[in-house]
This record gives sequence, structure tokens and C-alpha cells, in this order.
Amino acid sequence: MLEALLKRTQTGEKIAMLTCYDATFAKLMALAGVDVLLVGDSLGMVIQGDGNTLHVSMQDMVYHTRCVSNGARPRADNPSGTNSVIMSDMPAGSYEHDKALALANAQALIEAGAHIVKIEGGGNMVDTAAYLIMHGVPVCAHLGFTPQSVEKLGGYKIQGKTAESAHTMLADAQAMAHAGVSMVLFEMVPAALAAHITQQIAVPTIGIGAGAGCSGQVLVLQDLLGIYTGPADKAPEDYKAPRFAQNFLHQTGSVQQAIATYVSAVKAGCFPEEQHSY
Ligand code: KIV
Ligand code: NA
Repeated sequence: MLEALLKRTQTGEKIAMLTCYDATFAKLMALAGVDVLLVGDSLGMVIQGDGNTLHVSMQDMVYHTRCVSNGARPRADNPSGTNSVIMSDMPAGSYEHDKALALANAQALIEAGAHIVKIEGGGNMVDTAAYLIMHGVPVCAHLGFTPQSVEKLGGYKIQGKTAESAHTMLADAQAMAHAGVSMVLFEMVPAALAAHITQQIAVPTIGIGAGAGCSGQVLVLQDLLGIYTGPADKAPEDYKAPRFAQNFLHQTGSVQQAIATYVSAVKAGCFPEEQHSY
């Protein structure tokens, strides 16, 4: 499944990825041709109502991965349901400190139905990525703004703006590609830098707030639907959506059409536009 997707992207086809947390949306997304369903730890925010992703557990990730896998499985009406790759986030605390634990947790996500796992960080996570890959678990590396480090990074800030940090990001992406990751994801990275790194590495890149020069795009489902208004304990008026969040429901009128329009906009290279990028 993952192999087939990677093969298609070699011809320049863009990858359309959306976050997905349940079977109902997984079924719709698989039918709409979403290439990758990301069971993101953003579920800590959009499902659980927390202000960040730091308290999501392995148990939560396994449960939602199972739900998504169940909805995306092939059926008589949609034998191509299998064409959606399921990527699951490894939650904070499940992989950073111990490689053997990282592998056991990654295998639990694969067991629950994921085809690939995503970990945050470059540098010191390269060895962990290589270890998972060596044991047969495909990996996506998440670089740029890494939400599990939101406190260390001092809030939601664009990454790679200085020459030094841009150079480190390129080196991290190259090291991850060399370690054998299947994809590299960039969050909140200047469009020019993400495009440059995409040219420099042989694996596909996925962007969110990283410009149109990546090999594919990802959005949080609730942002695509324009229904996220911040953590449960905050007033909706106090929430400001990130600039890469585009409401596709507004222009289409149905959830199904919103998802389909997102997929075709990504495939056609019409999303993101300059206003969504840095
Ligand atoms: O958890 C998530 O939704 C993510 C995307 C923002 C890339 O990691
Ligand atoms: Na995530």
C-alpha cells in the first residue's frame, strides 16, 4: 500500500493527506481518494479538547488507529479502500527515550492497522528512525514546528527562518532520508526552504504551512471543515486559526464535497496558495 503510493509519487503526483480519527471519516476519505489518513496526535486537541498534544497516550493512539483502520478497510463497494495509507503518530513519551520501547510501541500501532508511524524531530531521532526501519516499521519524520516540543519552542512559531536553523533542517531531512524514512513532513516552514529541501532529498515531503513546493499536503480535518475553535476551556472568540487552515466546507456545502475538493486542489497544485504559506 505504502509502496504503491510512493511509486505513484515518483511521477510527480501530489500526495493528499488528511488527519482522521474515526471510522466514519475514514470511510468517506478512502472513497474520496485521500492518499494518507493521518491518525494525528492532534486528536489531543480536536477530539479530547486539550490545549496541546502532550497528554495523548499510546492507548489513545491504538484505539483511534483501530477505528480508522476499520473504516478504511476494503469493502465490496470500495475495493480500493486499501489505497488509503494509514499513518499513526507516535505520541509524546512513547519513542524519544528508549529505542526498544519505541519499537514495541510502533509495532502496537502497526498491529492496530497503521502502515507507517510518524515521529517528531531530526538530529537525535535519526537513530530511532533507523532502528524502527531496520525492524520493518516504515517511518515518517516530522520536522520544522514539532507540536510535542511546543513548550521548548516557545509557542506556535515558524521554524527554519535563520540561515543556521535552515541548514540544520536540511541536514536533518537528509539524515532521515539516509536512515530510510519513507516521507518527511514539514510544519510551519518557509515555503522556499521546504521547496529547496524537497529538491535535495529522494523521499517525498508533506507540508502543512510549508508552501506548495512539497510533494504533498496535510490538513487537520477540523480545519478543513472550519469547525475547530480552540481548546475546550477557551472561548471560541479567543481562537485564531493558523494561516494554513483553509475551510473547504464553506465553498462546497457538504463534508464529502469538501474532502473531494481538497484532494483535487492538492493534486492540481492549487492548494496551498501564497496566503497559506510563510
Ligand atoms: O497530529 C497532527 O495532526 C499532525 C499534523 C499537523 C501534521 O501531526
Ligand atoms: Na501530530
